[in-house]
Amino acid sequence: MIQAPVSAVRRSAIVVPDLAAVVEAATKRIVARIAQAPGRIAICLTGGSTPRPVYRRLAEEPYRSTVPWERIHWFWGDDRFVPLEDERSNAGMACAAFLDHLPIPADNIHVMPTQLRDPHEAARHYEDDLKSFYGSSRLDPRKPLFDMVLMGLGSDGHTASLFPHGEGLDEQERWVVGVNEAKLAPFVPRVTLTFPTLASTREMLFLMTGAEKRPMVARVFAGDDLPATHAYSDGAQVWLMDEAAAPDSVR
Ligand code: 6PG
Repeated sequence: MIQAPVSAVRRSAIVVPDLAAVVEAATKRIVARIAQAPGRIAICLTGGSTPRPVYRRLAEEPYRSTVPWERIHWFWGDDRFVPLEDERSNAGMACAAFLDHLPIPADNIHVMPTQLRDPHEAARHYEDDLKSFYGSSRLDPRKPLFDMVLMGLGSDGHTASLFPHGEGLDEQERWVVGVNEAKLAPFVPRVTLTFPTLASTREMLFLMTGAEKRPMVARVFAGDDLPATHAYSDGAQVWLMDEAAAPDSVR
């Protein structure tokens, strides 16, 4: 795999007692990033089950009535190539968990266009959407595309929809790619941002909870050749996890 040199990965770990503490800490980090940005804000969401309670928390007080929702644009790091209404849709999950319940202009919700013919066409359209939002077709490390990118860690070491030995891992030019074959359930094609696009952020925040994540967190922090190990960020990269997910090497 060819990605960022290891020296470019500045990864820091935060370990908190349990799931509730992960939810609280993640929510506070997201809200802090929002508070730091004076104008338009861009947040890139992730799928899977771990972020759902964080999304729900954002729709509750005190955030519900204090966050400047109209200034925030929401994107996804990856999605399953299924309709928004499908229970496997990452965008559908986030809409149901929080976006649909908040005063957010429809134009601020940038769902991957999974109604198109195939994941590759959807990827091209999403790339155009990102470039027009950013105002350039070249990413400048001094001007991050996102204020925050949320990420998850799969049991096989995948992140976003970048799977071990899968498609898109070495992509340096395209911002978004279609993935024909998911290597883990749900086995539907995917659309995913590539590593350089995900890296264009002030903060990349990985969320992990539960003992089943622990072996893979250990492998990432040991530098094993896995997609999640090769994720990098132009800004901070924070791995937030509970005690159960934390191997001895990160405590
Ligand atoms: C997806 C994801 C994926 C996810 C990890 C972790 O669409 O499946 O975006 O990369 O973040 O698989 O998922 P869990 O939080 O469910 O463990």
